[in-house]
Amino acid sequence: MHAHSAIAFELTDHPDPEAMSALAQRLGLVPTASAAGQQAAFLLRADAAGLCLQDRGAPRAAPTRVDFCDPSLQHRLRTSGKRQGIGKAVGLDKLPPAASLQVLDATAGLGRDALVLAHLGCRVQLLERSAVLHAMLEAGLRQAEVAQQTAAAAGVPTLAALRRLTLQHAEARDCFAAIALGQQPQPDVIYLDPMFPPRSGSAKAKKDITALHGLLGSESDLAGLLRAALPCARYRVVLKRPEARLDDGLPTPTLWLQSKATCFAVYVNSSFSSMRP
Ligand SMILES: C[S@@+](CC[C@H](N)C(=O)[O-])C[C@H]1O[C@@H](n2cnc3c(N)ncnc32)[C@H](O)[C@@H]1O
Repeated sequence: MHAHSAIAFELTDHPDPEAMSALAQRLGLVPTASAAGQQAAFLLRADAAGLCLQDRGAPRAAPTRVDFCDPSLQHRLRTSGKRQGIGKAVGLDKLPPAASLQVLDATAGLGRDALVLAHLGCRVQLLERSAVLHAMLEAGLRQAEVAQQTAAAAGVPTLAALRRLTLQHAEARDCFAAIALGQQPQPDVIYLDPMFPPRSGSAKAKKDITALHGLLGSESDLAGLLRAALPCARYRVVLKRPEARLDDGLPTPTLWLQSKATCFAVYVNSSFSSMRP
């Protein structure tokens, strides 16, 4: 991962400039007008809509933002179901009636998958190890709540789904170690979507993730991360992959689920049949 000194900070018309300046200081970002700021590869901007990240190497590209009201994400919410894609991968099609799942999304990123799961009724704890991404997620959650309270509700995720999300700035491996020691409760499902090497593609979500790739880099020890997760989930661990192929010395999954643009390797620890509502 690049050091945060590679990120410049710009404050435009954010409603709480003091809080944003304190955030920039906490994250060790440099003012955009400073010599270091002018050299920085990324720019974090605090504007009226929250926080966004601009890749200075792609100045014409729209900045990356955690936007839970984004139309493409809204489309995903409308078209996702419990018997397909990510819903099926975490096991929503197998749950006893009235039961709900506690999912640990250990690689939160832009929070899109987490919102889909919350929309489908899961309680989702998001872990994000990048302080910058964590701040963007916090800003996105705040913005979505504001939108929910102010906008005519169309095009905004429901408050109930937003309230099923909890966010933590943490390294997943530390959290898995705490679960293994019994210091933290065991989640029903652990969901992992680590950074893949960039691929070509045109969807906006992919472009956003490609932009983040320059900042965050690919996962260097995916097998280690997965092996640490496996004993920690009560029912299953789900690993999102670009294709149904095992590499990096990954353990063989119980099953593969293929949806349009992604694959999920599902590692089943236990069936949901013993679950109580
Ligand atoms: C590909 S993105 C996840 C995208 C997300 N699923 C979404 O729908 O927006 C991967 C994210 O996981 C975070 N991450 C990777 N490894 C992590 C770890 N070991 N602990 C916590 N966060 C991690 C990265 O910083 C990055 O923000």
